[in-house]
Amino acid sequence: MLYQEFFHEYVVYLENTDVAKTFVKLQKLRKKIMKKIISALTLVTFASFFLSAMAFAAGDKVAGAAIFKKNCAGCHGATGEGNGPAAVSLKPKPANFVNPAYKDSTGKNPKDYTDAELTAVISKGRKGTAMPTWKKSLSAAQISDVLAYERSLHK
Ligand code: HEC
Repeated sequence: MLYQEFFHEYVVYLENTDVAKTFVKLQKLRKKIMKKIISALTLVTFASFFLSAMAFAAGDKVAGAAIFKKNCAGCHGATGEGNGPAAVSLKPKPANFVNPAYKDSTGKNPKDYTDAELTAVISKGRKGTAMPTWKKSLSAAQISDVLAYERSLHK
Protein backbone atom coordinates (compact mmCIF):
# COMPACT_ATOMS: atom_id res chain seq x y z
CA MET A 1 0.00 0.00 0.00
CA LEU A 2 2.71 2.40 1.06
CA TYR A 3 4.77 1.35 -1.89
CA GLN A 4 1.83 2.04 -4.20
CA GLU A 5 1.30 5.48 -2.64
CA PHE A 6 4.96 6.36 -3.04
CA PHE A 7 4.86 5.26 -6.61
CA HIS A 8 1.79 7.37 -7.25
CA GLU A 9 3.41 10.44 -5.64
CA TYR A 10 6.56 9.78 -7.58
CA VAL A 11 4.64 9.77 -10.86
CA VAL A 12 2.90 13.01 -9.90
CA TYR A 13 6.32 14.43 -9.00
CA LEU A 14 7.76 13.32 -12.33
CA GLU A 15 4.81 14.74 -14.17
CA ASN A 16 5.20 18.02 -12.29
CA THR A 17 8.88 18.36 -13.10
CA ASP A 18 8.02 17.59 -16.69
CA VAL A 19 5.40 20.32 -16.65
CA ALA A 20 7.88 22.65 -15.03
CA LYS A 21 10.53 21.76 -17.60
CA THR A 22 8.09 22.15 -20.43
CA PHE A 23 7.04 25.46 -18.97
CA VAL A 24 10.65 26.65 -18.84
CA LYS A 25 11.17 25.42 -22.40
CA LEU A 26 8.03 27.22 -23.54
CA GLN A 27 9.17 30.40 -21.80
CA LYS A 28 12.52 30.20 -23.59
CA LEU A 29 10.82 29.59 -26.94
CA ARG A 30 8.44 32.45 -26.29
CA LYS A 31 11.40 34.76 -25.58
CA LYS A 32 13.12 33.62 -28.77
CA ILE A 33 9.96 34.19 -30.79
CA MET A 34 9.51 37.64 -29.23
CA LYS A 35 13.11 38.48 -30.11
CA LYS A 36 12.50 37.38 -33.71
CA ILE A 37 9.30 39.43 -33.90
CA ILE A 38 11.04 42.47 -32.40
CA SER A 39 13.99 42.24 -34.80
CA ALA A 40 11.59 41.76 -37.72
CA LEU A 41 9.62 44.81 -36.61
CA THR A 42 12.84 46.80 -36.18
CA LEU A 43 13.86 45.78 -39.68
CA VAL A 44 10.50 46.84 -41.10
CA THR A 45 10.69 50.17 -39.24
CA PHE A 46 14.19 50.85 -40.51
CA ALA A 47 13.31 49.74 -44.04
CA SER A 48 10.29 52.04 -44.18
CA PHE A 49 12.37 54.85 -42.69
CA PHE A 50 15.02 54.43 -45.40
CA LEU A 51 12.38 54.09 -48.11
CA SER A 52 10.70 57.30 -47.03
CA ALA A 53 14.10 59.02 -46.82
CA MET A 54 14.76 57.85 -50.39
CA ALA A 55 11.34 59.01 -51.55
CA PHE A 56 12.09 62.35 -49.93
CA ALA A 57 15.44 62.59 -51.74
CA ALA A 58 13.77 61.62 -55.03
CA GLY A 59 11.07 64.26 -54.56
CA ASP A 60 7.32 63.95 -54.44
CA LYS A 61 5.83 64.73 -57.83
CA VAL A 62 2.31 65.17 -56.46
CA ALA A 63 3.49 67.94 -54.12
CA GLY A 64 5.68 69.18 -57.00
CA ALA A 65 2.67 69.58 -59.31
CA ALA A 66 1.11 72.12 -56.93
CA ILE A 67 4.43 74.00 -56.62
CA PHE A 68 4.75 74.03 -60.42
CA LYS A 69 1.23 75.33 -60.95
CA LYS A 70 1.82 78.16 -58.49
CA ASN A 71 5.38 79.22 -59.42
CA CYS A 72 6.37 77.89 -62.83
CA ALA A 73 3.26 77.53 -65.01
CA GLY A 74 3.08 81.29 -65.69
CA CYS A 75 6.19 80.89 -67.86
CA HIS A 76 6.58 77.15 -68.51
CA GLY A 77 2.85 76.65 -69.17
CA ALA A 78 0.22 74.66 -67.28
CA THR A 79 1.25 71.53 -69.18
CA GLY A 80 5.00 72.33 -69.14
CA GLU A 81 5.21 73.09 -72.85
CA GLY A 82 6.96 76.43 -72.33
CA ASN A 83 3.89 78.40 -73.39
CA GLY A 84 2.67 80.10 -70.22
CA PRO A 85 1.10 83.58 -70.51
CA ALA A 86 4.45 85.28 -69.70
CA ALA A 87 6.28 83.33 -72.43
CA VAL A 88 5.10 85.65 -75.22
CA SER A 89 7.52 88.43 -74.29
CA LEU A 90 10.48 86.21 -73.33
CA LYS A 91 13.62 85.45 -75.24
CA PRO A 92 14.83 82.76 -74.89
CA LYS A 93 11.45 81.16 -74.31
CA PRO A 94 10.87 79.21 -71.08
CA ALA A 95 12.01 75.61 -71.41
CA ASN A 96 9.58 73.09 -72.85
CA PHE A 97 9.64 70.03 -70.56
CA VAL A 98 7.38 67.89 -72.74
CA ASN A 99 8.66 68.06 -76.33
CA PRO A 100 11.64 65.67 -76.79
CA ALA A 101 12.74 67.68 -79.88
CA TYR A 102 12.93 70.98 -77.94
CA LYS A 103 16.38 72.53 -77.40
CA ASP A 104 17.06 75.20 -74.76
CA SER A 105 19.39 78.21 -75.20
CA THR A 106 22.39 75.92 -74.66
CA GLY A 107 21.21 73.35 -77.23
CA LYS A 108 20.02 70.73 -74.74
CA ASN A 109 16.69 69.10 -73.96
CA PRO A 110 15.68 69.21 -70.25
CA LYS A 111 15.97 65.43 -69.98
CA ASP A 112 19.65 65.59 -71.07
CA TYR A 113 20.54 67.23 -67.74
CA THR A 114 21.31 65.38 -64.52
CA ASP A 115 19.16 65.98 -61.43
CA ALA A 116 22.03 67.98 -59.93
CA GLU A 117 22.19 70.23 -63.00
CA LEU A 118 18.44 70.85 -63.10
CA THR A 119 18.39 71.43 -59.33
CA ALA A 120 21.13 74.04 -59.81
CA VAL A 121 19.14 75.83 -62.57
CA ILE A 122 15.99 75.87 -60.44
CA SER A 123 17.90 77.01 -57.33
CA LYS A 124 20.08 79.67 -58.93
CA GLY A 125 18.18 80.57 -62.09
CA ARG A 126 19.88 80.88 -65.50
CA LYS A 127 21.90 83.96 -66.41
CA GLY A 128 20.90 85.70 -69.63
CA THR A 129 17.37 84.26 -69.41
CA ALA A 130 14.22 85.08 -67.46
CA MET A 131 14.60 81.89 -65.39
CA PRO A 132 14.59 83.26 -61.84
CA THR A 133 16.35 81.94 -58.73
CA TRP A 134 14.08 79.89 -56.45
CA LYS A 135 16.32 79.02 -53.54
CA LYS A 136 15.02 81.96 -51.49
CA SER A 137 11.32 81.16 -51.92
CA LEU A 138 11.40 77.34 -52.16
CA SER A 139 13.01 74.88 -49.74
CA ALA A 140 15.43 72.20 -50.98
CA ALA A 141 12.64 69.63 -50.48
CA GLN A 142 10.21 71.72 -52.53
CA ILE A 143 12.79 72.09 -55.30
CA SER A 144 13.29 68.32 -55.39
CA ASP A 145 9.48 67.89 -55.46
CA VAL A 146 9.05 70.29 -58.38
CA LEU A 147 11.95 68.61 -60.18
CA ALA A 148 10.28 65.22 -59.69
CA TYR A 149 7.16 66.70 -61.27
CA GLU A 150 9.18 68.20 -64.15
CA ARG A 151 10.83 64.79 -64.75
CA SER A 152 7.38 63.21 -64.94
CA LEU A 153 6.62 65.54 -67.88
CA HIS A 154 9.73 64.58 -69.88
CA LYS A 155 9.10 62.38 -72.91
C1 HEC B 1 9.69 84.26 -65.46
C2 HEC B 1 9.58 83.05 -66.22
C3 HEC B 1 9.96 81.74 -65.59
C4 HEC B 1 9.51 81.20 -64.43
C5 HEC B 1 8.49 81.78 -63.46
C6 HEC B 1 10.16 79.91 -64.28
N1 HEC B 1 11.00 79.68 -65.33
FE1 HEC B 1 12.20 78.09 -65.59
N2 HEC B 1 12.96 78.88 -67.25
C7 HEC B 1 12.59 80.10 -67.81
C8 HEC B 1 13.43 80.40 -68.93
C9 HEC B 1 13.34 81.62 -69.83
C10 HEC B 1 14.37 79.35 -69.03
C11 HEC B 1 15.56 79.25 -69.96
C12 HEC B 1 15.37 78.32 -71.14
C13 HEC B 1 16.61 78.33 -71.98
O1 HEC B 1 17.72 78.39 -71.43
O2 HEC B 1 16.44 78.25 -73.20
C14 HEC B 1 14.04 78.42 -67.96
C15 HEC B 1 14.70 77.23 -67.72
C16 HEC B 1 14.36 76.33 -66.78
C17 HEC B 1 15.01 75.07 -66.58
C18 HEC B 1 16.16 74.52 -67.39
C19 HEC B 1 15.62 73.53 -68.40
C20 HEC B 1 16.50 73.34 -69.58
O3 HEC B 1 16.47 72.24 -70.15
O4 HEC B 1 17.20 74.29 -69.96
C21 HEC B 1 14.38 74.45 -65.56
C22 HEC B 1 14.69 73.10 -64.97
C23 HEC B 1 13.34 75.34 -65.11
N3 HEC B 1 13.35 76.48 -65.87
C24 HEC B 1 12.49 75.03 -64.08
C25 HEC B 1 11.61 75.97 -63.55
C26 HEC B 1 10.83 75.70 -62.37
C27 HEC B 1 10.81 74.40 -61.62
C28 HEC B 1 10.13 76.83 -62.12
C29 HEC B 1 9.20 77.10 -60.97
C30 HEC B 1 9.67 76.81 -59.63
C31 HEC B 1 10.47 77.78 -63.15
N4 HEC B 1 11.37 77.21 -64.00
C32 HEC B 1 9.94 79.05 -63.23
C33 HEC B 1 11.57 80.91 -67.35
C34 HEC B 1 10.91 80.77 -66.15
